[in-house]
Parts: sequence; structure tokens; C-alpha cells
Amino acid sequence: MKLNSFLIILFIILKQIYAQCFEPIDEKRVKKVACGKWVTEKDINKVKINNNNKLVGGNETMFQVTFTCSTSDTVMCTKAQRAFVNAGNTIANTLKFKEKVLINATLMDFCAEENIETCALKHHIGLAGPQRLYSLLSDDDKIERIYPQALVKQFQFPEHPQYDEFDIFIRFNSRMDFYFTDDTTPIGPLQYDFEFTAIHELLHGLGFISYWQPYDEANNLKALCPAFALLNSGNDGAFDDIGENDLVTVKESIFDKYIIRLDKGTSITEYTKNIEQYVVNNQNATEEEFLQNLFPTMNEVYTLATTPKILGFLPHNSNVTDAVILETSIKYLAGSSLTHVDLSTYNNTSDYLMSYKSTPGKTVNDFISIGGNYSGGVIGPKTKLVLETIGYATESYPDPIKPQPFVKPQANLNSAAISSISNSVIFSQCYILICIIIILL
Ligand SMILES: *[C@@H]1O[C@H](CO)[C@@H](O)[C@H](O)[C@H]1NC(C)=O
Ligand SMILES: *[C@@H]1O[C@H](CO)[C@@H](O)[C@H](O)[C@H]1NC(C)=O
Ligand SMILES: *[C@@H]1O[C@H](CO)[C@@H](O)[C@H](O)[C@H]1NC(C)=O
Ligand SMILES: *[C@@H]1O[C@H](CO)[C@@H](O)[C@H](O)[C@H]1NC(C)=O
Ligand SMILES: *[C@@H]1O[C@H](CO)[C@@H](O)[C@H](O)[C@H]1NC(C)=O
Ligand SMILES: *[C@@H]1O[C@H](CO)[C@@H](O)[C@H](O)[C@H]1NC(C)=O
Ligand SMILES: *[C@@H]1O[C@H](CO)[C@@H](O)[C@H](O)[C@H]1NC(C)=O
Repeated sequence: MKLNSFLIILFIILKQIYAQCFEPIDEKRVKKVACGKWVTEKDINKVKINNNNKLVGGNETMFQVTFTCSTSDTVMCTKAQRAFVNAGNTIANTLKFKEKVLINATLMDFCAEENIETCALKHHIGLAGPQRLYSLLSDDDKIERIYPQALVKQFQFPEHPQYDEFDIFIRFNSRMDFYFTDDTTPIGPLQYDFEFTAIHELLHGLGFISYWQPYDEANNLKALCPAFALLNSGNDGAFDDIGENDLVTVKESIFDKYIIRLDKGTSITEYTKNIEQYVVNNQNATEEEFLQNLFPTMNEVYTLATTPKILGFLPHNSNVTDAVILETSIKYLAGSSLTHVDLSTYNNTSDYLMSYKSTPGKTVNDFISIGGNYSGGVIGPKTKLVLETIGYATESYPDPIKPQPFVKPQANLNSAAISSISNSVIFSQCYILICIIIILL
């Protein structure tokens, strides 16, 4: 079946354990890695001066793509590399990065012998996601939310855990029929523009993403829940699944913070708080009890996520009438619903880029032209507002809202879970979240 959609499947496991970090092995498993040491920036003033320089004008060097090509088609490799660099330039033209964003990009044959595990995804365009995520506290409502590493770096906190060497990973499947800007023949009616797809996915990796997800998709439960987060992993930190005795909570993403009901103007964080409060106070609840108490709430969010034009993203300095309408007009599709802009509103506009459905036979320039030749290019004005609101600086919005900085961990944090779940300021542990975006064609 051809779905023609950007389907994102999220496998989220968030851990909060001092000095333990995890990274994805594949879609379902994590491996333990060294978190690295605590880093204190030696010369904060120097950072600030550089920062001012960097704020002037876009500069592609702020968005660095490390590209690996593991197919024998060297012509395609060259084109793909150039497309990634162009995608990075496009993003760095809109967002004024203060710290470099580092991408690990790979073009590979998903079914080559050494890639047995990705072969299951041979009908997909690729995989993408943040390499690591962190949980940080919002000043205004004192709630911790999930931030991707690329965004956290932009806040230039003087002290922080050692960051992973890459911010975002992206793997494209060389078996797909892509159109590249360098191609001498025009785009075919069934070809997808590589660069356009790369920009779309990279913006998800930068934080254009909701962490509300189906509670029990296998059983078709009409219920959405924010990402489950582990507060304590037990003794060895070895991890395969959330165990019975693990303390858990739920967390939304920084993107979710700004999702509002367009009918009432209220924030969906109210639902997160509701669920969090129950989860935190009822760690011993059985699943039946959990559902008995929270199904109505989770079902209400599901209903919203499947009611046309009822949820929107409220950008900075704006009111409900300016909200960016999110995709809730389709049958619920994990990774498509909520995390994209409403197709029926934004198709053929300058903000088409972040809609869930890709259109074959059109190039980046076609989309810009169809959208009315927006001077900012393919990243439209509303898309830009969303990115500014979650924390990225732009020329017209140089001073975005930051969360509270990291706090250096204390030695003994085994009891930290308790204070953390009551939202006090303990968030210095390593957080891990696995988020793999699988792009279906
Ligand atoms: C990027 O910045 C460097 C130094 O600030 C400058 O030399 C270079 O020309 C810039 N590149 C572009 C494309 O603006
Ligand atoms: C980049 O990603 C590829 C595949 O996703 C992986 O094999 C490679 O080790 C990564 N590169 C680095 C330097 O981590
Ligand atoms: C949950 O169960 C554990 C042991 O099974 C117990 O130590 C703990 O006190 C219980 N917590 C609550 C809130 O009842
Ligand atoms: C909301 O925005 C609209 C359109 O920008 C404006 O006309 C209206 O006055 C604003 N309302 C408030 C309460 O700011
Ligand atoms: C977008 O434009 C296409 C082609 O002009 C048209 O068929 C389609 O209905 C338009 N979509 C919307 C939602 O306006
Ligand atoms: C969106 O617009 C494109 C033209 O850019 C058109 O081909 C496509 O059918 C439209 N999709 C919808 C759902 O209107
Ligand atoms: C954008 O510009 C192109 C070429 O200049 C033109 O053909 C096209 O009609 C313009 N698009 C819109 C929607 O005005």
C-alpha cells in the first residue's frame, strides 16, 4: 500500500538517571553509553562575543552535515550530499544558530547485507530523529519539557552535560527514486524531491514535533498520552522496557507547550498535568486503575486530534486567531496527526513544508512558487514562527524564550526522583529519549 505520507513512528523511552545515558540501537532498543562529564564553559564572555557575530546574517557553516554514503552509486552520493548541504543552508538562512548544529547523514541501501535490521524499512524513504534529548524546566508554569539537543545547545547554558557529538541523525534509503536539484532531467511525476524531504525531516529533528502518542495502539485504544518517562532505572541501568517497579511520569515536548484548543483557547498542557498528577501519585496503580482514571482524559485528547481544525500552535506575541492550525483532519495516524500543519489549510501556501503529505512531481522551487514566492523561501512565515516560539532565534526574533538552565548534579540522586516528580528544580540527570522518525513513501 502506498501511503504517500510522512509517517513518524515514535518509540520513546525517557530516563532520568545521573550518569547514565542511552542511545538508540534500532527502533526498539537502546544501548547504554557514557553520558560524558559535566561541562563548564570556561570563558562565557568569549561565547557571547562569538554569539553576536554569529547572529548577524545566516551562515551555512552553523549547520554542518557529516555525510556518509554507503552505496556504490557515486553519482547519487554526490547529489545527495549536495542536497543535504542545501537543506542545511536553507535552514540556517532562516534560523540564526548560535551554536553549530551537527548532523550525521547517511545514504544507504537499507537491504545491504550489513543492514539486515533496516531492511524491514525498505519501502520507507528513511529514518531521522534527534540523537539525544533533555528535559528542562519552563519558567512560567514550572513544568519540565523535552527538548532536542540541537535546541538545547542554542541556549548556551554555561554548564551542561556533555553533549553528544551529533544533534540529529538522518538516514535515507538509496533504493528510493528521488529527484535531486542537480538532475538534468525534470522531476518525474512520481519522484519526490530529496532536498524538500530533507528539510522537512530536519525541522522535526530540530523540535517541530509533538510527543503525544497513542497509549495502546496495538489494541486500537482511542487514547493519546504524552511520552512516558522513567524516573529511576533500578540498579544496573540495563534497559529494555519500562519495568513494573520503575517510577514513571509523563512529559510533553516544548512544541506541545504551545498547542491550544482553537474552540476555547486553552492549552493542552492542562491534559498533561492531569495525567502527570495521577501517574506521579499512583505509582502502584494497575493498568486497569490507570485506564479507569485517565481514559476519559486521554480519549478527549484523541478526539481533539481527530476533529478538524480544533488544535493549533499558538506562536509568540499572538492570539488564538493567529494560531497555526495543526493536522487533526485525518484518521489518527501516529507521527502524522498533531506533529504537522493542517494540509487543507496550508496546501498551496508558503507554509506547506510541514504538512504530513508529500506531493510527488514538485521541486522545492515549485513549492515556493505555488506558495506565492515567499521571500523567506520554503520555510514559510508560520513555520518560522513555530520555530521561534520553541526557542530558535531569527533575524526578526533574536531573543527567544529559554528554559531554566541545567543544574549541576549532586552526588547522591537516588532520591531525586521524588522531588523531581513534584516539579522541583532537579533536572540535572541525563535524560534519554528515543525518537525515530520513519518516513513512509
Ligand atoms: C560564514 O561566516 C564566515 C565567518 O563569519 C564568513 O567568512 C563566510 O563568508 C560566511 N559564509 C557565508 C556564505 O555567508
Ligand atoms: C552516523 O550514522 C551512521 C548510520 O546511521 C552510523 O553507522 C555512523 O557510525 C554514524 N557516524 C558517527 C560518526 O557516529
Ligand atoms: C508501592 O509499592 C511499593 C512496594 O511494592 C511500596 O514500597 C510503596 O510504598 C508503594 N507506594 C505507594 C504510594 O503505595
Ligand atoms: C487578535 O488578533 C486579531 C488579528 O491580528 C486582532 O484583530 C485582535 O485585536 C487581536 N485580539 C487581541 C485580544 O489581541
Ligand atoms: C491546491 O492546488 C491544486 C492544484 O492547483 C488543487 O487541485 C488543490 O485543490 C489545491 N488544494 C487546496 C487545499 O486548495
Ligand atoms: C496540494 O497541492 C498540490 C499542488 O501543489 C496538488 O497536487 C495536491 O493535490 C494538493 N493536495 C490537496 C490535498 O489538496
Ligand atoms: C512566483 O513567481 C513565478 C516566477 O516568477 C511565477 O511564475 C509564479 O506565478 C509566482 N507565484 C505566485 C503564486 O504568484
